[in-house]
Amino acid sequence: MSGSIPKPFIEDLVGRTDLVELIGSRVPLKKAGREFRACCPFHNEKTPSFWVSPDKGFYHCFGCGAHGTAIGFLMSYDHMSFVEAVEELAHRMGLDVPREGGNAPAAPRVDESLYALMARVAGFYQEQLSRDARAASYARKRGLTPQTLQTFGIGYAPDDWSEVLKRFGASDASREKLSAIGLIIAREKSDGWYDRFRDRLMFPIRDVRGRVIAFGGRVLDQGEPKYLNSPETELFHKGRELYGLYEVRQNRAPLRRLMIVEGYMDVVRLHQAGITYAVATLGTSTTPEHLRRAFRLISEIVFCFDGDRAGRDAAWRALQNALPEAKAGRELKFLFLPDGEDPDTLVGKEGRERFEARLNDALPLSEYLVTHLSTAIDIRHADGKARFVAEARPLLERVPAGPYRELLLERLAQAINLSGERFVAILSAMPGDSNRRANPANGNSESFGAQPDTSSRTAAQQRRITAARSGGRGSLVRQAVQNLLLFPAIAAQISQRDVEALAGIEEPGADLLHEMLVSLHEEPATSTAQVLERWRDHPAGARLAALAAAESIAPNAEAASNELRNALQRLARATTAAEIDALLAKDQAGGLDAAERERLKQLLTQSRDPA
Ligand code: GTP
Ligand code: MN
Repeated sequence: MSGSIPKPFIEDLVGRTDLVELIGSRVPLKKAGREFRACCPFHNEKTPSFWVSPDKGFYHCFGCGAHGTAIGFLMSYDHMSFVEAVEELAHRMGLDVPREGGNAPAAPRVDESLYALMARVAGFYQEQLSRDARAASYARKRGLTPQTLQTFGIGYAPDDWSEVLKRFGASDASREKLSAIGLIIAREKSDGWYDRFRDRLMFPIRDVRGRVIAFGGRVLDQGEPKYLNSPETELFHKGRELYGLYEVRQNRAPLRRLMIVEGYMDVVRLHQAGITYAVATLGTSTTPEHLRRAFRLISEIVFCFDGDRAGRDAAWRALQNALPEAKAGRELKFLFLPDGEDPDTLVGKEGRERFEARLNDALPLSEYLVTHLSTAIDIRHADGKARFVAEARPLLERVPAGPYRELLLERLAQAINLSGERFVAILSAMPGDSNRRANPANGNSESFGAQPDTSSRTAAQQRRITAARSGGRGSLVRQAVQNLLLFPAIAAQISQRDVEALAGIEEPGADLLHEMLVSLHEEPATSTAQVLERWRDHPAGARLAALAAAESIAPNAEAASNELRNALQRLARATTAAEIDALLAKDQAGGLDAAERERLKQLLTQSRDPA
């Protein structure tokens, strides 16, 4: 496992990224004063309400409320995950992404010329498809439109042992490269090389940036093997990649779910029919790594399997691999097609709407699990129930401890008419993996039934943050936070003493303000975007982003600085006054001890002289 990306690196990236260029290459922007505007790419509109501020490094739509930094934009617009967005920004600047901790060395840098070579060969295959009548007719026969061929970059590898070799492998160096990307193979008996792909319809597999990293090639009509994939290379790791994911991301509509199907042809034909959220694994079953990547993009994943025996087997394997990724807030579903159909044939027959209607019948993971176990086992009797629990146990152990596992456990118990407690009692009484039991601290194998409470703190913080919006002194803090957020450089003008004074203040949001000031003193930031990235995973991160988008009261850094200092003083005074009130009240009620009396005296002198 590689470590996390250092925050300062991320802030540096968003600080250096030209947001106008990044967004402008995707959405036509018009200059308007110091900012830029456009019709919002995230909702339909005729008059532009989408603003990009190069100074803040921030975009915002007054129509739909979409907002964020360069990273947020790539996540929303290109449907990238957070890490992918960071990698993309780094790549634009020719930087490698560093990783913290993690003893794995950083991924070795791939020779860029390999991608370029891959792209040239892909172009060659595409050109061949339009020239070869037999291949073109096969593509037509499979129902592929010219538009689809174009979108997916589908091509044809000619029926020849050395076309690619001759055209792209003139030198030793270029042959080494072709071999490194899996396009030619060394002869065993004699010197020389030959093309890996011959007489096949070629499906390019693209990475997140749209670069071709591998191919899947299908024979025209009959022949073995039906599909031939590129081998694992520096560019291509099939346990990670999902075919069609790049094309999925090219769609501008918000992504609601991903559907994982089995074949290339399925993906292409589903997209052609308008189901533009389909992807496929590459002849392997879905790995936890696939799912981790997919869940970074979206919280709903539907597996779609053929209704035949092979499809059902594949589904069960997929379920087992999916269990480690099952968590509250994520949806994993299983859709089974009628026997004899695959998504390609079915969507061809019934079209998008009827195919999508089938999604309503998809089984949630828990239901599929229960159905599968209870059809294989007769659960009417004690023996069957015991077997059911025994079979369920290793599966449950793969699910991370937490609310989802608790619910799944309840559901399994219910399936065999036991209470949750009885079910757990039987589970625990079963001889299990002694290794795991000896080590209860080991991640997933925490005892069943224990539920960590992770929600309360966030909720409390949320309440306080909400309170901070509701006027009075709360809004004083809110404005201070906003000033600091919009003009982070002004932190330098706040004295250490004022920062420390904030620490004791019990005001909603004051802790955040204090935290921001401390952090910005330690590590200054120059743009709003940098501050937002620093607080991205903080419970207050979303509030900060909203504050960045809200209308600012201070017109410039100087005004913001004055306001901020003023706010800090007023906060300190108000707090002193409150403490004095409390001490005076206590004095009247029952008297003060010596320390309290001393404190009161100190406060009273201080408040007379608020310098
Ligand atoms: P069509 O017959 O073209 O409709 O393909 P399909 O997508 O229906 O393929 P099928 O259901 O037979 O296989 C699903 C997926 O499994 C394919 O897209 C390939 O990724 C993989 N696959 C199928 N056959 C082979 C094979 O012979 N070798 C390898 N390596 N993979 C295969
Ligand atoms: Mn098929």
